[in-house]
Amino acid sequence: MHGDRLPGPRGLAQVAVLRGLLSDPQPALDRLRESYGPNSDLGFGPVRMAIVGDPTSLRDLFAMPTESFRWGHKFNVLGFVVGNESLIVSDGDDHRRRRSSVQAAFNRRRLNGWIPTIIEQTDAAVDGLTVTDGAMIDLYPIARRMVLEVTVRAFFGERFADRAAEIGELFQRPQDYLESTAIRQFPHPFPGTKRSRVRADRRALDAMIDEAIAQIRRAPSGDPLDVLEALTIEGVLSDSEIRDQVVTLIGAGYDTTSASLSWMLWRCAATPGIWSRLRSEADDVFGTLGGATGDATTTRDHTLLARLELAHRVMRETLRLHPAGVISPREAAIDLKMGDHEIRKGTLVLWSAYLAGRDPECWPDPLGFDPDRFVSLTAEQSDIADAAWVPFGRGPRNCIGFALAQMELTLMISRLAQRLDVTPTSSVLPRPVGMVVNRPAGGVQMLVRTRGPR
Ligand code: HEM
Repeated sequence: MHGDRLPGPRGLAQVAVLRGLLSDPQPALDRLRESYGPNSDLGFGPVRMAIVGDPTSLRDLFAMPTESFRWGHKFNVLGFVVGNESLIVSDGDDHRRRRSSVQAAFNRRRLNGWIPTIIEQTDAAVDGLTVTDGAMIDLYPIARRMVLEVTVRAFFGERFADRAAEIGELFQRPQDYLESTAIRQFPHPFPGTKRSRVRADRRALDAMIDEAIAQIRRAPSGDPLDVLEALTIEGVLSDSEIRDQVVTLIGAGYDTTSASLSWMLWRCAATPGIWSRLRSEADDVFGTLGGATGDATTTRDHTLLARLELAHRVMRETLRLHPAGVISPREAAIDLKMGDHEIRKGTLVLWSAYLAGRDPECWPDPLGFDPDRFVSLTAEQSDIADAAWVPFGRGPRNCIGFALAQMELTLMISRLAQRLDVTPTSSVLPRPVGMVVNRPAGGVQMLVRTRGPR
């Protein structure tokens, strides 16, 4: 196969582009699109990188057989934190086996069972705020805490509910490490370094998981919502595989979901009318605060989620503009054809939900925040929007937590709109930061006031 290379910078101009992609990816992607369109490539000789952001090309890419790509490649830095048996860095049969075990744990019944937990934890976070008279606070750590509390309960049942803060700390250093420069992440065995501390955090997590597995074997709790118990009792994965999957699930879900909730808070607070519309929808679905049905934790009715129709669109619109993964890497395992172009075997393919979500050919007023854009689409518009909305990827390697994340984000924003008044400190949206997970720089500083009794 001998197609042309994709367009892109050549010669020394590539150095600045690469530096931009590795330090501040979003402006770098915007510049690449302006100069070369949504698909481009760079690199010398055998060392190549292709950026794919065109929604039609992405549809083709997601439909290719998984054997066309490798995830366990040398640039996948995640393996150091999540472990080499994690499904996220596995290929072939290992991937299929690990993924199908984990996927079974994310069945619809279990997902619906988490709805009350999500609302309870949102309420607990609001109840913990002492801002009835209004105060300037950063909602980012609050969002992280909410997501962590839900995650810990979803994956360990009630077993480690009182150890959520400790688990959060054991994840914080590894996540910060993954966001540090490539030089800092260069593999080495030296003690007393950030890398060695990350290793120690991982050992501490492993010890906790082992303790939980032993407990389950001794006396299963029978809690149908406990993912770790489901994986242990199923018995398909070895203990070390289970450890790597649990760390992967928490790692992949914690930062991404809390960063997305932070962008949602910004967008909803900064767009006139959205917060109050979210609140009236929440009042309809959960019952008004202080009213007979205002205590949503008693609501075990899973149709509740389907009725949060605006909150769902707010979630979709936020993830369109601010996908947690701006670029996602995989390596071409064979020569690939992309339209008239060739992507050679060995190329690091960075597909971009960010470029697709802002594609001016697909989205009218692509940079505007308008959750109503998804209402009354024609079949053709709906097809275009479907191809261009890919924050969770598609196909056999799509995000395994996509339903849980969407559920958390929809329920949390809705309940927060009902229980908080929020005013942003500035009308200018914060700068995005983060190579692995895109979040708002400076967090979510807002004037916050809690409303009435729940
Ligand atoms: C807003 C939140 C989230 C976003 C935007 C997100 C996005 C993504 C993306 C873009 C991928 C890569 C797809 C690819 O490489 O083609 C991915 C993979 C993955 N995500 Fe998520 N994710 C989120 C939350 C979660 C949650 C809550 C979990 C776990 C409970 C999770 C677990 C995973 C796993 C295990 C994979 C690897 C799947 C595989 O390789 O087979 N994610 N996610």
